[in-house]
Amino acid sequence: MDGNGRWAKQQGKARHAGHRAGVETVRSVIEVCGQHGVKVLTLFAFSSENWQRPKTEVKMLMELFFTALNREIKRMHKRNVRLRIIGDISAFSDKLQQLIRESENITAANDGLLLQVAANYGGRWDITQAARKLAGRVESNELHPDQITESELAQCLSCADVPDPDLFIRTGGEKRISNFLLWQCAYTELYFCETLWPDFSKDDLLAAFQDYAGRQRRFGRTAEQMQ
Ligand code: IPE
Ligand code: MG
Repeated sequence: MDGNGRWAKQQGKARHAGHRAGVETVRSVIEVCGQHGVKVLTLFAFSSENWQRPKTEVKMLMELFFTALNREIKRMHKRNVRLRIIGDISAFSDKLQQLIRESENITAANDGLLLQVAANYGGRWDITQAARKLAGRVESNELHPDQITESELAQCLSCADVPDPDLFIRTGGEKRISNFLLWQCAYTELYFCETLWPDFSKDDLLAAFQDYAGRQRRFGRTAEQMQ
């Protein structure tokens, strides 16, 4: 979800206004994904590196995370959405951590869209914490280093029980992954669009789906093998 700041600037407003407008887009994207049979939606809300932004912006984003979650959780629950936060939430205030846990608990039994919100998340963090878990198991002689396989490591990652993403969408025109789901995106189809996140509409999302539908996914095989 990129482009909130630039959107605000275009409107002659402070960056905060862009982040607030971005929440509206989140709501509509969740809705459209639910309607189109998307099983898992992962939104990159706050990266491990976003702490380096000005203090006032970080504070505002934390407050917005709290108020938006507090306000939207009932609506999500009604729409059968299951919420999960991925990332190191221990860095957040106790109040926010508490709300995250409550929100996850309230929606835990829902079987509609799984909404993963990546908050204080980084792909490198994810792989590092997985490595740490494996090292612990080696230290306690539960696991031999030879038994560390791709699948063993994958099972220690944040969304171990969820398939790798099919489609990655970045709004706002930048063409980079910025430490999102690095391991999980190995064969994900990448889609970049110029629209700034607060302007990202239902039609923009459907255009991304349409583009994805025209891709041929080979996972390292040849085109002939895929026929
Ligand atoms: C994305 O919008 C929101 C967060 C990373 C929290 P930006 O804040 O990065 O917007 P730009 O890139 O400055 O326009
Ligand atoms: Mg940005």
